[in-house]
Amino acid sequence: MNIGILGNGNVGNVLAEIFHKLGHPVQIGVRDLKDEFEKKHYIEYVGFEDIAEDNEIIVIAVPGNKVEKAISSIKNPEGKIFIDLTNPVGEDFVLTRGRYTSNGEVIQEILKDSHIVKTLNTVGVEKLVEPTVTGKKLTMLIAGNNKIANKKVEELVFEMGFDPMIVGDIHFSRYLEPLAMIWIEMVRKQGKSFENGLVWLR
Ligand SMILES: NC(=O)c1ccc[n+]([C@@H]2O[C@H](COP(=O)([O-])OP(=O)(O)OC[C@H]3O[C@@H](n4cnc5c(N)ncnc54)[C@H](OP(=O)(O)O)[C@@H]3O)[C@@H](O)[C@H]2O)c1
Repeated sequence: MNIGILGNGNVGNVLAEIFHKLGHPVQIGVRDLKDEFEKKHYIEYVGFEDIAEDNEIIVIAVPGNKVEKAISSIKNPEGKIFIDLTNPVGEDFVLTRGRYTSNGEVIQEILKDSHIVKTLNTVGVEKLVEPTVTGKKLTMLIAGNNKIANKKVEELVFEMGFDPMIVGDIHFSRYLEPLAMIWIEMVRKQGKSFENGLVWLR
């Protein structure tokens, strides 16, 4: 499956390597193709606006408080699956949006003919690479409106090594985004080990 990633940052590059190792062709969308940056042989680089052209799934991996601007230029997003792993976190790791809405819901409103699936936002990059703790698979919660899109993303998340769990429609994003703050505060602010994560027993 062809996968596109919007954002050439920390998460974008870690995911590109994971997907490449799983056998998926990967494109990364960059803001300016003329910028000087380290290029990896297994990644095809395209402009932000072209990230939906050749890819079935596109991962949005840009800063959570810049997401509207980043997705506004994407051409032909209709019918595509977008994984939204952003967290609306501003300066000093403070949540800037929530309770009555979320990044996932705002993105779904903007890309109204695309299928937004919220997931992969509740762990740090370390656990995207190795989604287990003491040998147990971490649960990865998934939310989106379209059953087929949710299922496709569930399969990908399973391939990555998580225990996926679809929780409901895209409005669940407003619960999944604050959930990430527990991990962000503990690991990024308090300096605790990243060897922890959520397991949902059922
Ligand atoms: N870090 C984690 O452990 C983690 C885990 C789960 C989810 N997330 C979420 O993943 C997303 C990406 O995080 P990251 O750590 O990969 O961030 P990052 O390293 O700062 O990378 C952000 C990327 O977004 C691009 N970008 C696009 N539009 C932008 C704009 N208007 N302003 C600034 N940058 C813009 C940047 O482009 P340039 O290269 O041109 O600057 C850069 O490639 C965030 O929403 C975060 O909440 C992070």
